[in-house]
Amino acid sequence: MTIIVTGGAGFIGSNFIFHMMKAHPEYRIVCLDKLTYAGNLSTLKEVLDKPGFRFVKADICNREAVYRLFEEEHPDVVVNFAAESHVDRSIEDPSVFLQTNIIGTSVLMDACRKYGITRYHQVSTDEVYGDLPLDRPDLFFTEETPLHTSSPYSSSKAGADLLVMAYHRTFGLPVTISRCSNNYGPYQFPEKLIPLMIANCLADKPLPVYGEGLNVRDWLYVEDHCRAIDLIIHEGHVGEVYNVGGHNEMRNIDIVKLICAELSKPESLITHVTDRKGHDLRYAIDPAKIHGELGWVPEMKFQDGIKKTIDWYLTHRDWWEEIISGEYQDYYQKMYGNR
Ligand code: NAD
Ligand code: TYD
Repeated sequence: MTIIVTGGAGFIGSNFIFHMMKAHPEYRIVCLDKLTYAGNLSTLKEVLDKPGFRFVKADICNREAVYRLFEEEHPDVVVNFAAESHVDRSIEDPSVFLQTNIIGTSVLMDACRKYGITRYHQVSTDEVYGDLPLDRPDLFFTEETPLHTSSPYSSSKAGADLLVMAYHRTFGLPVTISRCSNNYGPYQFPEKLIPLMIANCLADKPLPVYGEGLNVRDWLYVEDHCRAIDLIIHEGHVGEVYNVGGHNEMRNIDIVKLICAELSKPESLITHVTDRKGHDLRYAIDPAKIHGELGWVPEMKFQDGIKKTIDWYLTHRDWWEEIISGEYQDYYQKMYGNR
């Protein structure tokens, strides 16, 4: 079995590659990644020389490069993680989100149609459902919840999902989609909430909480997400969407306080800053379908997962200090300088 993993030099894609190479050592894994600011080849250093692994630097929007790779590798399965993934950046400049997340998805699926595959899997997000009110804890996103997006990021992901379902219906492409809640764990780029707060805590820098910090996210350890995708590509039903989430809702402010406590830093570092435009209030996944059909349950408890994640950032300072030393400083100044 040959699997093309796009976006495999990013956070979830790299964790998925590690998971698959351990769980299915007989598979050939080909990572296709453009290495944008969010992709880092050093993340993959432990697998780069392994037989059965190949890295190819290319843009999923580059039809010629994508078709060439399909001709060389004859993949059975494509798992598409490649995306622009940060909501704040999509508010600054939506265009690259539309290009990669929508056009890139269509190029990959065109290649799948042309060369034939057994499965195209689209890694999507719970953000395509929009948000839930804070005062209705009884409500959850199911696979039937209408798409109702808030940000250019989530709109581009919803656009891609619609296209995936259209390729299934119109061309009979064997597709599946997973819509996951917020992931955390090793190798997450420090622009996202948890690693940003860890890095700032360690530098005794202010911890920029948007608004009051009362927005709620449903957190899932990245390895649990990777196991879910592994299950879906093997046992999931073609044409189906699977929600993936951990019933682990937390307010942002509580996460930040927890990180302060774990690192023995004072809560006085917390700085409330101007809220994100269009900020989604609450995400909450109902994972009953993937549990009932495929037997998936999250294994990592948040109390353990967050400790493991903090430990990872403490022991891999070279990985993220390198990242935040360059272009990231300009990004940080632009986003947080006058907030
Ligand atoms: P990430 O930003 O860490 O990584 C994205 C990767 O895609 C990078 O390696 C980047 O170089 C690559 N990439 C970007 N544009 C590309 C292009 N045009 N061609 C080829 N490669 C390109 O993202 P992530 O957090 O690992 O998210 C992976 C996927 O999971 C995304 O599709 C995202 O929408 C989805 N998702 C993420 C979360 C989360 O909490 N992080 C939750 C649900 C779904
Ligand atoms: P983020 O990690 O960007 O993920 P998403 O927006 O996709 O859920 O943000 C998680 C939550 O944390 C979100 O409600 C916004 C908030 N947040 C802050 O309060 N401060 C920050 O500096 C960042 C990056 C996020």
